[in-house]
Formats: sequence, C-alpha cells, structure tokens
Amino acid sequence: MSLLRVEQLTHYFGGLRAVHNFSLTIEAGRMHGLIGPNGAGKTTIFNLITGVHAPTAGRVVFAGEEITGLQPHRIAARGLGRTFQDLKLWRHMTVLEHVKMARYATIGYGLIGAFFGTPRRRREEAEIEENACRLLEMLGIEHLAEQVVTNLPYGVQRRVEMARALALDPRLLLLDEPTVGMTPEELNQMMELIRRINGELGLAILLIEHRMKMVMELCRHISVVVFGDLIAEGAPAAIQNDRRVIEAYLGKDTVAT
Ligand SMILES: Nc1ncnc2c1ncn2[C@@H]1O[C@H](COP(=O)(O)OP(=O)(O)O)[C@@H](O)[C@H]1O
Ligand SMILES: [Mg+2]
Repeated sequence: MSLLRVEQLTHYFGGLRAVHNFSLTIEAGRMHGLIGPNGAGKTTIFNLITGVHAPTAGRVVFAGEEITGLQPHRIAARGLGRTFQDLKLWRHMTVLEHVKMARYATIGYGLIGAFFGTPRRRREEAEIEENACRLLEMLGIEHLAEQVVTNLPYGVQRRVEMARALALDPRLLLLDEPTVGMTPEELNQMMELIRRINGELGLAILLIEHRMKMVMELCRHISVVVFGDLIAEGAPAAIQNDRRVIEAYLGKDTVAT
C-alpha cells in the first residue's frame, strides 16, 4: 500500500484553474521532488493535500484512508507534517515552545488535568519536553532552545519550523521550498538535514524546490507541473532530458536551436 495517493486533483480559485488532474503516489520512506516554474500550482497542491483548501475535484488517500477535505489539524494528527514557503512561526515564542506547542495540540488531558496538574498530565508534560529537546538536538539547535525565534537567523528559523513539523511524529513531511533565501552554507546544511530526516527517521518526504540540482541530488522520483498540469514524472535523468521539461524551464526557442 502506498503511503500517499493523490488522485486527479483539480482546483479552481474563482475562474483560475490552479491545479488540473494532478496525480501522485509516494511510497513509505521515499523522497519525491515536486518542481515547476513559479505559479505552476505546487504550493496549491500542498494546500490541497494538507486540507488548507478542499479540492474542486479529486481525492487524497493517506495510509489507506481518504483524507480529502478534512481539517488541517486532523490531517496533521494522522502523520502528515508540513512546512510553509513563507515561514509561519509564532512571533513571541521561544524555539522550545514552538516544538512543544505542536505536540500539545495532539495530547488528551482534559480541563481538570490542565488545572490541577494530575500525575498523567505531569508525565505527558515531561515526555513532551524530552521529545522536543531530542528533536532540537537532531536539528542542531538545542543551544538556542530558550531564544525567541524572531531574533534568530533565517536558516535557524527554517530549522525551528522543521522541528515543529517533526514534533507530530509524521510519516510524511511536505517541505515547501525549504532553502529559499538561504546562504550557500545554510543550503548545504539544510540538504544534509533533509537527507538525515529521510534516512535516520525513515520519513517519506515530498519536496518543493526550485533548484534543479538539489532536487536531482536528493530525489529518486520527480513530478513536474506547469500551469497546473503534470507534464512529466520519473527519475532525475529522465526528467532532465524530457523535452517538455526543458521547454518549460528554458523556453521553446532554446530547445529548437
Ligand atoms: N489563495 C489563492 N487565491 C487565488 N489564487 C491563488 C491562491 N493561491 C494561489 N493562487 C494562484 O494559483 C496559481 C498557482 O499558485 P501556487 O500554487 O502558489 O504556485 P507555485 O507554488 O507553483 O509557485 C497562481 O496563479 C496563483 O496566483
Ligand atoms: Mg509556491
């Protein structure tokens, strides 16, 4: 059984068809790239998979169950984590608080527990703290745990966002341009980190990335969208030599000459 099956997704914003008949399958533990020019519909595809928008047509099946149109937090709780193209961090919270908050959303102590600090609540609290610290360590930002995120460099903020997504113990992680705006050094570190998340945690990853080289290095499978349509899908070598992909990236004239 595939971990994620996206079937024939179509989405309209008013009269604009942003995604058209898009399908995609990801096996557990795999790293899959999603590329295409600006405005191709990549982020919209993420938003359709994660419940931010309900598709006009089509289905999303995760771990064997249909999740089409569920609320984003329900989809996240099932093990589908994501980061955003434009960072969505909470301004006044520390690094550690970010990661802990993500986890609180999923645990089940009632109001009574919250007020009176039952043993169960204290145990959960300790577990959350421990998990969060382990994640920060893995991402190499444990020494920044008490810092307010808005004061930190951009590359670090990206890691915090990733730690927050990982706090929910996802089986699939959707990364929307995780290296945009990074220095070359931050970029290399981020690539290494994505490899480790995939390798050590065994997470499947769907990666939106505009740097061809990076996608080709990281992913064994790549989907290419242009104006909402899937125009090519396959291994990096095949994608690189696909005529439609070259046309989409370089323009028809370049191919002709
Ligand atoms: N919330 C929205 N409302 C209206 N149009 C949108 C919205 N989000 C994206 N679009 C439009 O849908 C198209 C695809 O956008 P997007 O998915 O962000 O592309 P990409 O991530 O590939 O750059 C674009 O034409 C964009 O302007
Ligand atoms: Mg986008």
